[in-house]
Amino acid sequence: MNAGIIGVGHYAPEKVLTNKDMEKIVDTSDEWIRTRTGIEERHIAADDEDTSDMALRAAEEAIKDSGLTIEEIDMILVATVTPDNPFPSVATVLQHKLGARKVAAMDLSAACAGFMYGVITAKQFIETGSCKNILVVGVEKLSKITNWEDRNTCVLFGDGAGAAVIGPVSEGKGILSFELGADGSGGPHLYQDDYLFMNGREVFKFAVRQMPQSSVNVVKKIGLKEEDVDYLVPHQANIRIMEAARERLGIPKEKMSVKVNKYGNTSSASIPLALSEDVKAGKIKDNDLVVLVGFGGGLTWGAVALRWGK
Ligand code: UT7
Repeated sequence: MNAGIIGVGHYAPEKVLTNKDMEKIVDTSDEWIRTRTGIEERHIAADDEDTSDMALRAAEEAIKDSGLTIEEIDMILVATVTPDNPFPSVATVLQHKLGARKVAAMDLSAACAGFMYGVITAKQFIETGSCKNILVVGVEKLSKITNWEDRNTCVLFGDGAGAAVIGPVSEGKGILSFELGADGSGGPHLYQDDYLFMNGREVFKFAVRQMPQSSVNVVKKIGLKEEDVDYLVPHQANIRIMEAARERLGIPKEKMSVKVNKYGNTSSASIPLALSEDVKAGKIKDNDLVVLVGFGGGLTWGAVALRWGK
């Protein structure tokens, strides 16, 4: 039995901070942020809006989109590094808020690659027959761990949520290959102490190597060529890193999802948020070969090649 994405949803908080707003907070400029990162604005959650609240909005939309009822969800996985509390997990809070059955629920911590870890974990449970349908959410309230005095990081991040229902699909469709990896020696380059800390240059070097490589690897694993990719949804951290992956695949600009301008880097949420928006805008069609690829703190990375449709 092959597992695929059968429903998607997303949510971004109402409040928007533009680059011009950032100029009033730290010594930066709209020009620096746009040319170095591609970011124009980011969404910031309200003080009383928790990670699980954003997860709920995206999850409800994804379940509706899948055509399933909440009773048909057999497991809940939430990728986040900014849970409401260290425990209970956001996944259990979400289970309760959704009114789901008392199914297994847990959080996954793989930073910006978290959603990829979630999707690939879901695939294993479905393909072994242990579960039929699994809700995977990527969600972050990064604004609460952002040091708003550090211009190296505060201009980069935003809040939001994306969700997908993973379920059985017909032969030839769904997740055809995957790659997951981690290199703990790179941990000191991106971590949270009180606030988020990042050695941007080191993470950049890792990302421009790993994201193109993983994208190519998942396509090669299924015996196809780079140019067979119909749509690329990369982690939305920096347009220059995303372009490196697109150029390595040799596909045109219109075949890559670009949302980093609107949302900044939303870590675990970035891939499902971008995917959901593009599916709803009709940019991904039945039978398209889609590559999802992410990298993040850990260091971690993950990618899938999937044939879109049920
Ligand atoms: O999802 C998690 C993964 N994270 C990432 O993917 C981030 C990866 N890294 C990056 O995207 C880039 O390294 C950054 C966007 C963070 C930085 O771009 P860069 O081209 O690597 O710049 P840099 O670190 O080489 O810094 C250039 C200069 C520095 O000044 P000096 O030392 O050359 O005088 C910084 O102090 O830019 C300065 N700078 C800023 N200037 C204006 C750093 N942040 C800002 C800012 N506004 N916000």
